[in-house]
Amino acid sequence: MARILPLEQAFDPALDILEAGGVVALPTETVYGLAADATNGEAVARIFEVKGRPRFNPLIVHVSDTDMAQRIAVFDQASMLLAGGFWPGPLTLVLPLREGHGIHPLVTAGLDTVAIRMPRGFAREVIEELGRPLAAPSANSSGRISPTSASAVEDDIGGKIELICDGGRTTIGVESTIVKVEPTALRVLRPGGVTAGEIENALGVRVTRGGDKGVEAPGMLASHYAPGAAVRLNATEVGEGEALLAFGPKRIDGADRAVAVLNLSEKGHMREAAANLYAHLQALDRTGAKTIAVEPIPEEGLCEAINDRLRRAAAPRGDV
Ligand code: TXA
Ligand code: MG
Repeated sequence: MARILPLEQAFDPALDILEAGGVVALPTETVYGLAADATNGEAVARIFEVKGRPRFNPLIVHVSDTDMAQRIAVFDQASMLLAGGFWPGPLTLVLPLREGHGIHPLVTAGLDTVAIRMPRGFAREVIEELGRPLAAPSANSSGRISPTSASAVEDDIGGKIELICDGGRTTIGVESTIVKVEPTALRVLRPGGVTAGEIENALGVRVTRGGDKGVEAPGMLASHYAPGAAVRLNATEVGEGEALLAFGPKRIDGADRAVAVLNLSEKGHMREAAANLYAHLQALDRTGAKTIAVEPIPEEGLCEAINDRLRRAAAPRGDV
């Protein structure tokens, strides 16, 4: 069971766990988050493992200051104004990733945009001390509601994590508002702690209310990341000219004729495999192979999300 510590006592242990690539439940002003170092793929994979998410949705990157934010994302004038007006606070901006951003692709689900926010209070202090951004979805298991107290976190995922930082009830109690900043429009992808009206007043521009529909889009990964190569799942042998995405210690027939082989995890470790997924797919795609053959991957634990992602990559183009 997780230790539950008041914030004063939780600070140092939380840092130690995050430094070591672990996950920690901590309060933000909106809801409790399940946090991990956003630059560490295996740490981020643990988040998905604990939540039991059957797919890799992109996660929000939490920063401590605008310098950190600007090293990760490209801010235009409107996003600067929004950050200036509402950060720290319950507003998440979806912005283009900056080159050399350092965020692990598992956090962004391989997209070229990033959802980023600066939380208030304890979470921000932890990020500042760590010196690195934190990926943090709400600290509930998949399909459950977002927790607004340490005991709600404990009841749900307390058996799967080491530490819950107890900051009492969160003040806002609903998630942050997610706004996508586009050249000609501001779109609310998810309503939350800041209202569209407040944003309109601050900027003097109209905000498009996309409702929840817009938030589904990043889950539709195939439409965002379409590998040039075709993807062939559950391959039992490698065909001529194919690249191979392997999993585990044993190779399928014909592996030695693959134009390139990358293994998600030699030992068959799911967390390592999740952390390697996007980078390996992209690297195999860059070889110019017409098809990427994928070895069978067990449909269990984190591998469910890996398979979900691969099925999307394998889906006929335009069919998402
Ligand atoms: O209040 C909050 O925002 C909480 C606290 C812990 O900070 N966090 C939170 O994270 O709600 P999560 O992972 O449950 O929600 C992330 C949402 C998802 O709906 C996802 O689709 C969207 O952010 N998102 C992430 N990256 C995106 C992107 N590049 N484009 C569009 N939507 C994105
Ligand atoms: Mg959530």
